[in-house]
Amino acid sequence: MKKEVGKEEVSRRRLVKNWVWGLLAVIAGSEFIWFSGSILKSHRKKSSRNKGEKIIDAGLVAEFKPGEIKAVPQGQFYISCQEDGSFIALSRTCTHLGCSVPWNEEQNKFICPCHGSTFDKKGVVLTAPAMRPLDYYPLRIENGNIRVDISTPIKRQKFEGSQVVRA
Ligand code: FES
Repeated sequence: MKKEVGKEEVSRRRLVKNWVWGLLAVIAGSEFIWFSGSILKSHRKKSSRNKGEKIIDAGLVAEFKPGEIKAVPQGQFYISCQEDGSFIALSRTCTHLGCSVPWNEEQNKFICPCHGSTFDKKGVVLTAPAMRPLDYYPLRIENGNIRVDISTPIKRQKFEGSQVVRA
């Protein structure tokens, strides 16, 4: 009788031992899968950031006169050439409630048709209710071409010289 109880005890211990090892193997496997997944995810994020750029060719520097504004319909933004010949790419979306803001050549300002906000050539608010300037996009000049990355509109509270690019 004693021997049979011993055998049962041994097989129970073996069962528990196998169960514990099995559990540890499952936990280790899950850790490995989670770790591999997070490495792949961060790698994908890095490459999509590079691929995430959406560049629009917005014309040649030579095509602009100082003070000129041109709409770039395929990117839904404006290229605003400042009086000193520098450039800024302005979003056409009003910072009040998101209406599309046209340039008014006669009045020399952007006038929002929805609630009357106005903006100057740098996108700075002239008339409320908008409280902050039009967003702008990263712009670079390559071999005389104006290239704008429309993937990331930049919000701002005021105009700063670093927002314009000189040819
Ligand atoms: Fe432009 Fe309201 S959406 S002023």
